[in-house]
Amino acid sequence: MTAPSRKSVLASALLALFPLAISACKPQAGYPLDTLAPTSDLTKSLYDLFVEVTVLDIIVLIVVVGALFLAVLVFSTRTGSPRQPSVKHSDMYLEMAWTIIPALILLAITVPTVRVIIKTQPYTWPKDTLPVEVIAHQWWWEFHYPTLGVETADEVHIPTGQTIHFELFSKDVIHSFFMPQVGGKRDVIPGQENQITLVANVPGEYYGQCTEFCGDSHANMRFRVFVETPADFQRWVKHQLEPPTKPTSGPAAAGAKIFADAPCAICHTIRGVSGFSKEYTYGFRGPDLTHFGSRSTLAGSIMDNTPRNVAMWIRNPDEVKPGANMPTLGLSGGEMDELVAYLESLK
Ligand code: CUA
Repeated sequence: MTAPSRKSVLASALLALFPLAISACKPQAGYPLDTLAPTSDLTKSLYDLFVEVTVLDIIVLIVVVGALFLAVLVFSTRTGSPRQPSVKHSDMYLEMAWTIIPALILLAITVPTVRVIIKTQPYTWPKDTLPVEVIAHQWWWEFHYPTLGVETADEVHIPTGQTIHFELFSKDVIHSFFMPQVGGKRDVIPGQENQITLVANVPGEYYGQCTEFCGDSHANMRFRVFVETPADFQRWVKHQLEPPTKPTSGPAAAGAKIFADAPCAICHTIRGVSGFSKEYTYGFRGPDLTHFGSRSTLAGSIMDNTPRNVAMWIRNPDEVKPGANMPTLGLSGGEMDELVAYLESLK
């Protein structure tokens, strides 16, 4: 057998160290879907588990690569060497060692994993827990606060320091609710209620995204999570409970009439103007627009909420979000401006 060349040994060494190099990388700040930037008790637990298992993996890697190098560089037989390679058919101690050690490694990974699963998926919740129903649709997210009477879409607000219990439902196909910095990821399955429980710690605006392929506009099914101080959250709730603006003159008033006459009102609720009963469960239902103007994004959170973008969306929803259920209304330029003015007035 020929001895391996220095070059091939070096190449194997670099290859073996590659995972080490990756795991040592600190992601740069500013990635909105960064899974290594925890801001809640749940994501902190997941992050700590990830670090724990990665450190263990690195130790295993070092031992294995070390043994490989010893075998290649120290204990290998070279051409012309007078020594014969050792031949051994069985060794009870070795057999025991490589059965027991991997079993211990698996145990060292399993115990903390199960501990985190039990800790992060409780069956009981503190008295002051805030339940938030998340209803996934092709392709947008509906959020209900059953104890507060608030309904909104694509942007969920939660306070810091309070247990939040997300109850996940799907109206059509399987989606996945992924908010990496705040709450990890969980599938949203028709006919089954899944849950996420967390306490958020850091106020801020966080990105979310559907991560289960759910049709044409799966990639356009995003959302935002606004984590707020309790005082800011109370202010938001109070504002959401107020009735919508009722413009009496100008383009917004004309737009309100267009909204009521056009098919918009069939699918979209504006409290006191159009809407569904609580029992409504059939057919298509679009986002609640009562306070649409106060949201920062629209259309599955893929665009900033600006008059220009709202007009672009209404003009041809299918172009912005392929497969969208919203029809093209065929409004004239003037009517469009008025409808957009009305929607944006719904602060
Ligand atoms: Cu919903 Cu992908």
